Amino acid sequence: MSLLDGIKTIAELPIENKRVFLRVDFNVPMDGDKIADDSRIREALPTIRHAIERDARVVLASHMGRPKPGKTDGLSLMACGERLAELLGIEVHMPEDCIGSTARKVIFDLRDRQVCLLENLRFHPEEEANDEAFARELAELADIYVDDAFGAVHRAHASVYALPKLFRDRGCGLLLEKEINALGKLLSGPDRPYVAVLGGAKVTDKLAVIEALLDRVDALVIGGAMANTFLAAKGANMQRSLVEPDKFALARTILEKAAEKKVEIALPTDLVVAASTSAERGEVVSVGAMPENTMALDIGPKSVADFAARIGRAKTIFWNGPMGLFEKAPFAAGTFGIAQAMANSSGFTVIGGGDSAAAVHAAGGDIAAKIKHISTGGGASLELIEGKKLPGIEVLRQ
Ligand code: 3PG
Repeated sequence: MSLLDGIKTIAELPIENKRVFLRVDFNVPMDGDKIADDSRIREALPTIRHAIERDARVVLASHMGRPKPGKTDGLSLMACGERLAELLGIEVHMPEDCIGSTARKVIFDLRDRQVCLLENLRFHPEEEANDEAFARELAELADIYVDDAFGAVHRAHASVYALPKLFRDRGCGLLLEKEINALGKLLSGPDRPYVAVLGGAKVTDKLAVIEALLDRVDALVIGGAMANTFLAAKGANMQRSLVEPDKFALARTILEKAAEKKVEIALPTDLVVAASTSAERGEVVSVGAMPENTMALDIGPKSVADFAARIGRAKTIFWNGPMGLFEKAPFAAGTFGIAQAMANSSGFTVIGGGDSAAAVHAAGGDIAAKIKHISTGGGASLELIEGKKLPGIEVLRQ
């Protein structure tokens, strides 16, 4: 069975001359009032262009950030609308709200091939509450529902879950289709060996995925601050590194379970350490030989070589989470080394959103172009490869 069974794609929906509610994920990283990375907007373009070319009236909707009630500062989708207008080369109409009379006026004035972008859905707490009445108000704005917001399909929020149920004609956009196809391959008989590379700050954030992956992968490569907790749990003195002592027992259980299931777990053997995150350079030391008062901020060159060799031997590789503080040059080599190994691989390489996608772009050259699939979803990609059923996908099935 394919994850797309029973789900129509936009190509199969009768969108001509219709108002299409197109849920996108324009939750882009911002630097003040400027967009720091417009990838998510660019990735939505094929679906938006498809709808325009088929004479639809396109009603785009997205969330941005996690606004607190009454606090909307810096979380408007205005900059995204402006960027989208530049990329499409047409005007993007932007009502001040996603529901109410202003939104209705803008939408009902739209002509075929025109586009509007509603304001941040999360400015209404009803969005995150999956509120039925709010969903009904949104449903009045369009004839057909299309979800292309892969990054948000793990959220049972109104625009993702309650809303599509109100449409007979509903389906997925081209990006959502591409994401489900690519990530779905990791679930249904991936070519082996299948290696997952996990990094990032906290074991806590990745616990569910680690446990689920033990049943799916041949080897788990762990780097980043997350590895510190495993190394400390195995008895290494991690000095002032970020560790989660309350997770030591769990880390040991994971190591035992992995041994039972014959899943290899690779941890760093050397580290780049410094006295603080603002240090201008780091020192390479073996695990277990960290000088007092230092902290681990990247994996060392031996670990990079070992991890890269494992990636090189694998036929399917999933990577999520940086190996260190890659935003700072002295601690970027580990993460960039993994990015390069992913690019060199002839296997099926997939990167799960967020920081690792940013790292691959920051690594420069043609590294990003050589990765088979860079997901636009962070949490969504992890939950999907865990094998969870995601509400925003299931609701589209008919
Ligand atoms: C993301 O950035 O992962 C998605 O846009 C979902 O955002 P959220 O984690 O705030 O729901």
